[in-house]
Amino acid sequence: MTRDGVPIELGGRSFDLLVALIEQPGRIIPKRELVRRVWPDVSVEEVALRFHMTRLRKALDDGHDGRRLITTQVGVGYGFVGVVTRAEARAFPPQSKDVRPKITLPSRSDRLIGRETELRALGEHAAGVGLLTISGPAGAGKTALAVEIAHDLGPGFADGATFVDLAAVPSPDMLIPAVATALGLMAAANSSISVVLDYLRDRRLLLILDTVEHLIEATASLCELIIATAPNVQILATSRQPLRARNERVHRLAPHTPSAAIELFTHHVSTAGGLVDALGNDVPAIAELCRQLDGLALPIEIAAIRAATHGIDATSKMLGDHLSLFWPGRRTAAPHQQTLKASLDWSFDLLSVAEREVLGRVSALNATFSLETAFAAVSDVPLDRATLAATLDDLTDKSLILVDAGLYRCPEMIRLYACEHARALEALRSPCATALSNRVN
Ligand SMILES: Nc1ncnc2c1ncn2[C@@H]1O[C@H](COP(=O)(O)OP(=O)(O)O)[C@@H](O)[C@H]1O
Ligand SMILES: [Mg+2]
Repeated sequence: MTRDGVPIELGGRSFDLLVALIEQPGRIIPKRELVRRVWPDVSVEEVALRFHMTRLRKALDDGHDGRRLITTQVGVGYGFVGVVTRAEARAFPPQSKDVRPKITLPSRSDRLIGRETELRALGEHAAGVGLLTISGPAGAGKTALAVEIAHDLGPGFADGATFVDLAAVPSPDMLIPAVATALGLMAAANSSISVVLDYLRDRRLLLILDTVEHLIEATASLCELIIATAPNVQILATSRQPLRARNERVHRLAPHTPSAAIELFTHHVSTAGGLVDALGNDVPAIAELCRQLDGLALPIEIAAIRAATHGIDATSKMLGDHLSLFWPGRRTAAPHQQTLKASLDWSFDLLSVAEREVLGRVSALNATFSLETAFAAVSDVPLDRATLAATLDDLTDKSLILVDAGLYRCPEMIRLYACEHARALEALRSPCATALSNRVN
């Protein structure tokens, strides 16, 4: 090792310490982690760490002329804050044998029902694709699936898997700090994109960006930068809408099959303390209920929790009433998943005025409708056919409308919600009220 061409004397342990620090520039590395790293086979006191840190600082002339290379966070650890540039490309940073991939993921679902096909296919696709996005409607089970995939694949990445929950990140300017924090980088609140990219550059890591639809543009840009900079980082994103980023592979998550939906419902009734005859009399009612809920995991879970106390018949009868939007789900669910209303508020808040207007109108239509029918439904709005078609495409992209063979369909609970919304705004009183009362009756 040299400085300005002059060799620097540095003992083996101090050198190991330096390597450990500059592998993760900007990150405060806890003392214990450094001790484990530098003395993998023997147990040493913290004083040994302090001793070698002092030698290292001296050798680097740290602190001279106000220059800071290593920072101390009292009681926590040390971090390298100098600029690190790599002279030659290395595949991966060296790792001592005892350092296991760091996996920071939410725990798996107690039981993931169905999804065997997706797990198999996406497990294979995830390898070698820069960005894999699982997209689909609110509560379809995107996060549950991504977490499961990450648990399966994470250990295969030398630098493990990092999960970033973006649901609570309110604005795009908080995206980079949130990712930096999840990666354990120092001074995360002020982290710039370059800190994140420098950290990821030589890593082999699975990065899960969960719930990104409200930060869609910022996330798309970030993913493109990561893919261009860090060829061994694999991104798995979940979103109600595809990112439409370069190198993205989108998997549109299908609703649960009828049999998986029944199993899901039965499972949640049982875990909520209810009784269900899953093999006999209850099956037709459960199947119909799951059909009305479009095979979506979250609505099924919420209805099942309701059925555990009110029974399946009463739950079926109430489904479609606006009160069903307020049925409480799991207490520990994320705020935007506590009720169906909360989950759809989240989607609705992200819509443009035109998208809301169109969704409000088409929610009053019959189950499936054509572009022509939709055009007639918005005839009193200054919207030409091309704009309407584009708006319907946007709503489809955002998983609020489904399209099949040229016909559109609004899922039941979204119809109910959009009707309620339109009615509340008094934008479309009579058609919505009629459609709603027809369905309730
Ligand atoms: N395959 C599944 N088996 C069991 N529960 C599931 C499954 N998929 C989703 N869930 C449950 O349904 C709820 C919504 O799923 P989630 O993954 O959060 O949906 P999304 O991310 O699409 O909004 C969660 O409580 C989740 O645990
Ligand atoms: Mg989710």
